[in-house]
Amino acid sequence: MTVVYHESDANIQFLREHRIAILGYGNLGRSFALNLRDSGLKLVVGNQADRYASLAASDGFQVLSIEQASKEANLIFMLLPDEVMPHIYLENVAPHLRTNDMLIFASSYSVAYGFIEPPSYVDAGLIAPRHLGVAVRDGFVSGLGYPCYVAVAQDYTGQAWNRLLAAALAVGALRQGAIEVSFNQEVELDLFMQQAVLPAIHHTLLAAAEVLINEGYSPEVALTELYLSGELGAILARAAIAGWSRALRRMSPTAQYGILSRTLDFQEMKMRRQMETILDDIRNGDFAQEWSSEFRDGYPRMQQMRRRFESSPMWRYEKEVLEILRGLEISADDDF
Ligand SMILES: NC(=O)c1ccc[n+]([C@@H]2O[C@H](COP(=O)([O-])OP(=O)(O)OC[C@H]3O[C@@H](n4cnc5c(N)ncnc54)[C@H](OP(=O)(O)O)[C@@H]3O)[C@@H](O)[C@H]2O)c1
Repeated sequence: MTVVYHESDANIQFLREHRIAILGYGNLGRSFALNLRDSGLKLVVGNQADRYASLAASDGFQVLSIEQASKEANLIFMLLPDEVMPHIYLENVAPHLRTNDMLIFASSYSVAYGFIEPPSYVDAGLIAPRHLGVAVRDGFVSGLGYPCYVAVAQDYTGQAWNRLLAAALAVGALRQGAIEVSFNQEVELDLFMQQAVLPAIHHTLLAAAEVLINEGYSPEVALTELYLSGELGAILARAAIAGWSRALRRMSPTAQYGILSRTLDFQEMKMRRQMETILDDIRNGDFAQEWSSEFRDGYPRMQQMRRRFESSPMWRYEKEVLEILRGLEISADDDF
């Protein structure tokens, strides 16, 4: 049975005597750090000395090296990118772990695939928001919260759940109720969404744009209709809150009839088989091995694919359309 934890299940007192470190002050690290502080907890930030470290300092945090922050803390949030986390953990975190310490991850990737093996004398848990890092802060400030998964991989102290839920409460992860999953489930679901669902949506939008532009519609109207209007995003947002059937009922009868009658035409076996193959590669670790060697080699394939994508006609059309419609000058390096 699915277990959902709410704020009433947690007691922040379990963290009162803890020394907390946030390792990595990126998208999620910053949101978690600000939320923990606003919940009345003291913490230090561990980051290499660069722009993220400066941001943490200007936000009023004590900033230490990752190694120093690990030494000082007994509850450590590992908020570094999946592919760099293992070697930073081995060099800077693992040597300083003491009995009863706790490691908290926001993605189970490194632990689930065995790149990080927490020693038997610490607790290991997961607070994995199902939202963008910035939305984790917005959800805390607005009081609306955000969807989240929680898990405990190792309970050495017998207090791992108490400590994890106290931390989850402090970062605002229990406001909407956090769903308990296993470490393996979290990473498999996350990668499946990234590799099976988003590419299918991407492919659908590209194919649809090509059809419309080849049939003589201007790129401006084609891309506006497909996604630049925000209508698609609004439909998904409504479905996330109220479910697909209610989102559908908000549309015109013509739209409802069109969607329901034509959905059947897209029920291809090929797509289902493709998704099953992707899930197999995620579960048997093939993707994790592929990504590790890509990282080791300096991301050659990723750079090549990005270059190909960004020089494709669709990307050029999109750039032109955004310049015309919104006055936005976009370069491939832009960070939105
Ligand atoms: N962002 C999200 O929406 C989100 C949502 C749920 C879960 N998560 C999980 O949260 C974790 C952090 O993700 P994020 O999106 O916050 O990452 P991010 O924005 O890319 O930030 C990563 C942090 O890691 C540091 N870092 C990167 N490379 C490093 C290196 N080689 N050595 C030392 N430090 C390095 C960065 O600092 P410098 O660049 O200054 O070194 C930065 O502080 C990941 O496990 C991710 O899966 C993220």
